[in-house]
Amino acid sequence: MNIILFGAPGAGKGTQSALLVGRKGYHQVSTGDLFRAAIQNQTELGLKAKSFVDRGSLVPDELVVGMVEEELQSLGGKPFILDGFPRNIPQAEALESALRRTGIKVDKVFSLEVPFEILKERLVGRRVCSNCGQVYHVLSSPPKKEGVCDRCGGKVIQRKDDQEDVIENRLTTYMNSTSPLKAYYKAKGRLVEIDGNRDAEKVLHELEKGMV
Ligand code: AP5
Ligand code: MG
Ligand code: ZN
Repeated sequence: MNIILFGAPGAGKGTQSALLVGRKGYHQVSTGDLFRAAIQNQTELGLKAKSFVDRGSLVPDELVVGMVEEELQSLGGKPFILDGFPRNIPQAEALESALRRTGIKVDKVFSLEVPFEILKERLVGRRVCSNCGQVYHVLSSPPKKEGVCDRCGGKVIQRKDDQEDVIENRLTTYMNSTSPLKAYYKAKGRLVEIDGNRDAEKVLHELEKGMV
């Protein structure tokens, strides 16, 4: 089964993707991670995307869609999770036509529902490993040794777009551009809403139940 993990910034898309990759052998396609890697490696795509990512606005669709298509092709039919894509109606339409062309199906869209105030707390306290991408939170899931990744020993840092003013813009962008996708996928009969404001393992269990 191929799925979209949908949700506001901080809803837990990355956290749940990592759990599904570990347990079920899924491949995560995170557009945010792809952009951060491109920015770090200073590729042409990274240079074009940087100013948008830094201020928490959407990267233009023409840069996103081609990148995702390439990524899906490279998976050669392995099951995938789309994390952070699509993020507006034109991206969803582009995905539909790419899927039609390639004969790949997205079976379900899981929407992780978390109240806005909680999203802010999660984002302000989030830390990530600069080497392997493992996600932490200063209060709810800190690394055993401050600043050091439990999994790989890499340096644990704060994402540049997890500053409070950028968080505001990301949440506003979500409300204006991304949240209408819920009605879009509901109309297609593919939307499954999940309470994401629970223990991560419980959320995972709920996802797994919906994936049979
Ligand atoms: P992206 O990287 O996708 O960021 P985002 O959507 O803002 O989502 P986050 O990664 O912030 O949140 P998440 O849902 O993954 O939460 P996480 O699991 O980390 O995008 C970044 C930027 O790239 C965008 O702003 C844009 O510029 C660009 N971009 C990306 N895709 C694009 C597209 N399609 N089109 C155009 N531009 C695009 O969890 C957050 C925190 O909460 C962590 O600390 C975690 O430990 C904690 N947490 C998670 N689950 C739980 C739980 N159940 N209980 C308690 N705490 C939890
Ligand atoms: Mg993420
Ligand atoms: Zn690490």
